[in-house]
Amino acid sequence: MTSTHFGFESVDEQDKARRVRGVFDSVAPKYDVMNDLMSMGLHRVWKAYTVMVANVTPGQAVLDIAGGTGDLALAFAPKVGESGCVVHTDINEAMLREGRNRLLDAGKVLPTTVCDAEHLPFADASFDLVTVAFGLRNMTHKDLALKEMNRVLKAGGKLLVLEFSKIAKPLEKAYDWYSFKVLPKLGKLVANDDSSYQYLAESIRMHPGQEELKALMHKGGFGHVDYHNLTGGVVALHVGIKC
Ligand SMILES: C[S@@+](CC[C@H](N)C(=O)[O-])C[C@H]1O[C@@H](n2cnc3c(N)ncnc32)[C@H](O)[C@@H]1O
Repeated sequence: MTSTHFGFESVDEQDKARRVRGVFDSVAPKYDVMNDLMSMGLHRVWKAYTVMVANVTPGQAVLDIAGGTGDLALAFAPKVGESGCVVHTDINEAMLREGRNRLLDAGKVLPTTVCDAEHLPFADASFDLVTVAFGLRNMTHKDLALKEMNRVLKAGGKLLVLEFSKIAKPLEKAYDWYSFKVLPKLGKLVANDDSSYQYLAESIRMHPGQEELKALMHKGGFGHVDYHNLTGGVVALHVGIKC
């Protein structure tokens, strides 16, 4: 048996996906409101920046992995226009259902698929852009998932990974206090679930930092990788080009 981490806990690899599913099954109905509260609306700015860097044009094919409640898919849909397509995917049905309902409310009908990023059900070289926002952290085999993302991209295609990262040193103390003292309490108050938000804080600490993730993306087949720190490194946007 191989072990991995689930937050600060060491768990059997087989068990991680089940535990992650439990987290997102639990938070799905309150996911959007919690996102706004926890980040004080900042997640909208980080995603808007991601959409700007994506620079999607009409006719392009976009794959949003771990798309959850659909923020990115919703933003890309008008940009690809009638001739393009945005595929909205996630491993978790509850999250995807929330997302599909939001998309329908916004008048968008997008192809929506339950799938594991580690085994993507798409042909090689199918997409111009692949995005994954706040999802990679939860994956058991990040190396495998990155290779899959590379495989489904066309040559010259772009991967955008928006994810929590290593915060700048002077902000560390305040961030730790907020993450471990405030977040779980907020989760308890709003979603009646403190443990999922404790997992969130822990999983952020276990996730590779900016340079580590850059190296992992190179290993995954991306010839050019760069990153942009956002909000003092609370979050980083990694851009990988398949070349
Ligand atoms: C924090 S949510 C992010 C949702 C959305 N992208 C956003 O930014 O609001 C993380 C998502 O990653 C999904 N996820 C976790 N492991 C996954 C995997 N192996 N393949 C695909 N999605 C996964 C979860 O189900 C969850 O919906």
